[in-house]
Amino acid sequence: MESITVDHIGTLYVKYQDDLRAVRDAQRTFLRDRGRTMKAQLDDYEAEMTYLLLRDLRPEVVVEIGTFHGWSTMWILSALRDNGAGHLHSFDIVDNVVRNVPRELAADRWTFTQGDIQQHPEKIPAEKTDYLFVDADHGARFARWYIENLFPAVPPRTPASVHDVFHGRRPKPFSEGSVIVKWLADRNIDFLTPSTAKAPQVTEQLALVKKDVGLDEPVRDSDHNPMIFFTLP
Ligand SMILES: C[S@@+](CC[C@H](N)C(=O)[O-])C[C@H]1O[C@@H](n2cnc3c(N)ncnc32)[C@H](O)[C@@H]1O
Repeated sequence: MESITVDHIGTLYVKYQDDLRAVRDAQRTFLRDRGRTMKAQLDDYEAEMTYLLLRDLRPEVVVEIGTFHGWSTMWILSALRDNGAGHLHSFDIVDNVVRNVPRELAADRWTFTQGDIQQHPEKIPAEKTDYLFVDADHGARFARWYIENLFPAVPPRTPASVHDVFHGRRPKPFSEGSVIVKWLADRNIDFLTPSTAKAPQVTEQLALVKKDVGLDEPVRDSDHNPMIFFTLP
């Protein structure tokens, strides 16, 4: 996969604009109809970037840690459906997601496992993982756990994303975000974030592309986009 840069994401918005428009419409409708049972967590740019990177990568195996009500799950499954390939393995302590993900979207492309992921890491198909999505426990200890146990187990150069890192210009002290950002910095690994607090120029650039292709109507009204995207060493 090409490196994760804002220019590359811009080209993906243009390339996949029609499919993305359909997914955005479906997600907006779902939220309107089922709003009370769907506490959506990902903001539009980070959700769309996840979708676009998965379209570009065409992964066989995606691992998602932290589903909650299933907003990110539905974005990821939409990308796999539109690729016509790939399987998502999702993990969470709570199982609200099972009641939310539409059956036709889950189809035969989704496996959900309930429980604390730290207690059964062997259930993650780590050595087969093509894309790793983390949006779970935001404490420093959890970050140290997946850095020590999961990162070394997935194949080299696996693309990954971690949510709730940049709600401000810096991650909160003693948080998952502070641990992962330091880990990346120590290894000179770049990340891309659409965080409006950390890197407002990213969403400003992408907003122009979205306007050009008529994708500027929001799906959700929240626009923090605190996720980071990077490629593991
Ligand atoms: C912020 S929510 C996920 C939001 C979801 N990705 C979305 O887009 O709506 C975090 C989720 O991580 C789960 N979680 C926290 N610690 C976990 C652990 N050790 N193992 C599995 N899931 C965990 C929580 O139960 C919660 O549902």
